Amino acid sequence: MLPKLDFAHLPTPVEVLPRLSAQLNGPQIFIKRDDQTGLAFGGNKTRKLEYLLADALVQSADTLITGGAVQSNHCRQTAAAAARNGFACTLVLTGDKPPKPSGNNFLDLFLGAQIVWAAVADRDLVLQQTYEQTQSEGRKPYLIPYGGSNPIGALGYVYAMKEMREQVDDLDWIIFPSSSGGTHAGLALGGRMFNFKGKILGISIDNPAPELSEKVARLAEETAQGLGIEQSFKPQDILVNDDYLGGGYGVMGEPEVEALTLFARSEGMLLDPVYTGRAAAGLIDLIRKEVITADQKVLFWHTGGSPAIFADRYMGDLLD
Ligand SMILES: Cc1ncc(COP(=O)(O)O)c(C=O)c1O
Repeated sequence: MLPKLDFAHLPTPVEVLPRLSAQLNGPQIFIKRDDQTGLAFGGNKTRKLEYLLADALVQSADTLITGGAVQSNHCRQTAAAAARNGFACTLVLTGDKPPKPSGNNFLDLFLGAQIVWAAVADRDLVLQQTYEQTQSEGRKPYLIPYGGSNPIGALGYVYAMKEMREQVDDLDWIIFPSSSGGTHAGLALGGRMFNFKGKILGISIDNPAPELSEKVARLAEETAQGLGIEQSFKPQDILVNDDYLGGGYGVMGEPEVEALTLFARSEGMLLDPVYTGRAAAGLIDLIRKEVITADQKVLFWHTGGSPAIFADRYMGDLLD
């Protein structure tokens, strides 16, 4: 095991969603509540940050730097983890500064992070410049990649798989949103290490399937190497469905609105407009098409993100 801090509320609960199953005439549906990891509204990044911040401490860093979209859950959780562990935090957010901060962006500021705005095309450059600027001020920055997805962050989901294996048996499917690939890579490697026999299917949020499965395979292999174990992953070992990309990243369409509404009104369960809403739309569609059949057991991995519901750009559309 690599060094790890301990600020997530683990194990997160696994619950059953019988009313949702009944509405869909579908399989038994479980949900793994990683929206309840306990760090400033939780989410999947908290598990990754336990490993990343331990590494930052080993490197004697004092400032965390990372980047993401305006409504990035990763950035919000990084800002919270920084505050909780005594780091400063600078976030490079991509896009136009909104007229009024809301949702995750409000929380970034409230948690004390400094924000640097960057155009999409310049985001890597601005991230690098921010790193150098921090160094030139005599501080020790630690750069966390987009989504916390590197062989250190992915460890959070290797061991999340172990945790889940101790909670529920005989699953045919795990379904979850996949974007920067760390969650997916961790689950894929954890699946091998802890003998998970079902299908681990990532619903792509913003990438074509071939690109994402290649990225995840590479990251899973590097994560294994970091642990000193031999596991080779080919893109075809990684299951990705990119049928639900809709209007693109962050665009909430009909399928996402339906999924959010169905989960909220059948189970009192809040999803988010960008990630879990899209993945749940995929889950619902795969059940309706009987790719996932009524005699199977499926676990939806709730990766968090609910503060984005309160972003000005989404709130109105959810009540239309
Ligand atoms: C709520 C939520 N779910 C899923 C993801 C995707 O996870 P990953 O970046 O590890 O693929 C993110 C990442 O930003 C997220 O915020």
